[in-house]
Amino acid sequence: MANLLCIGAGHVGGPTMAVLAQKCPEHRVIVVDINPAKIAAWQSPRLPIYEPGLEEAVFSCRGKNLFFSSEVDKNIAEADIIFVSVNTPTKTFGQGAGKAADLQYWEKTARQILQHSRTPKIVVEKSTLPVRTAEAMERIFHSQDRGLQFDVVSNPEFLAEGTAIRDMEAPDRVLIGARDTPSGRKAMQAIVDLYAHWVPRERILTTNLWSSELSKLVANAFLAQRISSINSISALCEKTEADIQEIAHAIGMDSRIGPRFLNASIGFGGSCFKKDILNLVYLCEYYHLPEVAEYWEQVVRMNEYQQARFLSRILSSLFNTVAGKRIALFGAAFKANTSDTRESPALHVCRALLEERADVVLTDPHALDNARVDLGEEARRVTFEPDPYRAAVNAHAIALLTEWTLFSELDYENIYRSMAKPAFFFDGRNILDHRKLFQIGFNVHSIGKPSLLHT
Ligand SMILES: NC(=O)c1ccc[n+]([C@@H]2O[C@H](COP(=O)([O-])OP(=O)(O)OC[C@H]3O[C@@H](n4cnc5c(N)ncnc54)[C@H](O)[C@@H]3O)[C@@H](O)[C@H]2O)c1
Repeated sequence: MANLLCIGAGHVGGPTMAVLAQKCPEHRVIVVDINPAKIAAWQSPRLPIYEPGLEEAVFSCRGKNLFFSSEVDKNIAEADIIFVSVNTPTKTFGQGAGKAADLQYWEKTARQILQHSRTPKIVVEKSTLPVRTAEAMERIFHSQDRGLQFDVVSNPEFLAEGTAIRDMEAPDRVLIGARDTPSGRKAMQAIVDLYAHWVPRERILTTNLWSSELSKLVANAFLAQRISSINSISALCEKTEADIQEIAHAIGMDSRIGPRFLNASIGFGGSCFKKDILNLVYLCEYYHLPEVAEYWEQVVRMNEYQQARFLSRILSSLFNTVAGKRIALFGAAFKANTSDTRESPALHVCRALLEERADVVLTDPHALDNARVDLGEEARRVTFEPDPYRAAVNAHAIALLTEWTLFSELDYENIYRSMAKPAFFFDGRNILDHRKLFQIGFNVHSIGKPSLLHT
């Protein structure tokens, strides 16, 4: 039996360790966090995040071989392997502000590990980090001659929120990078052995440390790039009466391109894509590769452009003023099947409409609590309404901003009757039957498709 510790009980730490505990019943898994309220929630019946399958995973092993605790120091002392999944947000101050990763939580954790260790440790980078962070970590670990062996292993997490449990249970691949030294190889094998409990060996890739660290940033940059690429073409579609969904289908059938991640929308959100691309941009600038930096920065610019275009469309359609008009926003989460609202396009749209003095009503099946927190002061000017039917009453427009299945199953005839007229529908995710909405009476705007307007 080994003691596995995870530092950081967030969107990565909680779900990944729950699955690890389920799959490795002979090991003891402990997840710690500096936020006691979060730990209390992980110990309670109401978990701090919403993820399909998460409750089942946590409840099946919590109290058996999965534990949540606020005692960081004691658990560091007892651990054999330490996964670190603390947050690595974009730096907001000093050199690299707005682009570089803020590694203060990460470095504090490293120093804490050093201070409380009495036995050798394998330290696993689960957080997304700039390439060569492991080198800095090794220097910290070996800064005091404690006579202890610390091996830093990179094992970036590729799960996507909304499918985190499924992604952990059946990953496309697991990536493990380590030093090519006897102890580095031993540490790498220890992590391979954990995943080999349930992941086929051919899906467990082993690489050098730097490739592993950089692969995570590159994977997110490529995924976000696909979204920005299709969104850029949606703008051209709106000028030419071409239809972005027909184009996505046509190009997606090319096996070299593939059909996934080709849905035009109001753009990507979430805590990772933007921050990780900006981090990549910063790294390229740091290594004097301005052309490469500019290339990737454009992915973020395109995403901002897409949201700005969507807002302009709402404004111009509603006769260039939304002041005092009730607008119902369907969705607050940055995507379906998560309660996470970090960097959610829905909240960007919400803030912009508040600036235009609209009367905004926000509805979402799981993300209203987080939206309230994220909107801060501005939350006072928003109505939070869990029932989409009530949210739409007397609204001049509905803007669908999160692709929850629930929103495609509503009775839109009923909703249309309750709204102010003319009634507008802005489908920011292209998930509804636009012709049907038009026939009901809505003026329909979508992404990259001709608008359907009653004259
Ligand atoms: N969210 C995702 O989908 C996802 C996917 C893959 C990788 N990642 C990466 O994983 C990392 C964590 O992301 P997240 O979404 O889980 O973040 P999160 O904010 O949900 O969780 C991070 C947790 O770490 C805790 N923490 C910070 N400093 C600590 C310390 N010194 N000791 C103990 N706990 C501490 C925070 O209180 C927080 O609960 C980031 O680097 C992120 O880029 C995230």
